[in-house]
This record gives sequence, C-alpha cells and structure tokens, in this order.
Amino acid sequence: MPGPFQLPPLPWAENALEPVISARTMGLHYGKHHATYVKNLNDLVAGTRFADMPLEHVIAASVGNDETRKIFNNAAQAWNHAFFWNCLKPRSGGEPPRAIARAIDESFGLKPDRKSPGLGVTLGIWKRPDAALLGRRPGVRFDR
Ligand SMILES: [Fe+2]
Repeated sequence: MPGPFQLPPLPWAENALEPVISARTMGLHYGKHHATYVKNLNDLVAGTRFADMPLEHVIAASVGNDETRKIFNNAAQAWNHAFFWNCLKPRSGGEPPRAIARAIDESFGLKPDRKSPGLGVTLGIWKRPDAALLGRRPGVRFDR
C-alpha cells in the first residue's frame, strides 16, 4: 500500500499476550515506537519520490544510501514492527510443520525451545507465506 503510510491495527488486543507481554509493553512498542516510525516516515517522504511507493519499495529504494538513511530506518522499523505483531498469537503453541521444525533444528539448534507451551504466545509464522523467508537464510532449506 503506498503512502501516506498508516499504523496498521494490532491483530489482537494490547493485553492479549499477557502475562508474556504486558499491555504496557505493547503500548510502548505499538503505541509509541511503531506509531512514531509511521509518523516520521510520512514526514520524511512527503513530496519525495518515496511518497507514493508501497512500504516494501521504500525500504528497497532507500537502503544503503546516506541521503535516505532516515527514510530507510523509519520504513524498515515500521515494517519490522508490523511483521512482528503478525508473528505473535495469543493462547497458541505447539509444533510447527515438520519441514520448518527440521530447518529450525538444523539451522539454529533450537529444538528444546522450539515449542513453548508454557508461554501461551508463539511465533505464528508457520502457516504464513512469510515463513518462506526463513528458507532464504543461508543454510536453511525446506525442500528436504
Ligand atoms: Fe519497538
């Protein structure tokens, strides 16, 4: 979606991840950090070639350039925060699909911690297309 960029709504209530992540912490990271990155980005891109780009294009077009570093930082942080919120799910847990579990075990050695039923919050990326991004990490393959 091109700018002006919007603060996307959280996929759950701010207190939905308690007691793992408090509503106060969510208020800080969503209501302050994320909202500020979106506001700063809109201020920085107003009247520039970045103003009508989708967020991902702003990131790609601004990376590695001192003149666009502030735009990149705010765009990337806005994207990172939105991505992270969609990776969390309240009252969840369990094993990821076998191919992803194997890739995590082989690549990161996280087998004992991969499943965290006691937390009630888990990465919800397993069923998302974004999970394919993990496959782009060197040494991670899902085709075995
Ligand atoms: Fe944050």
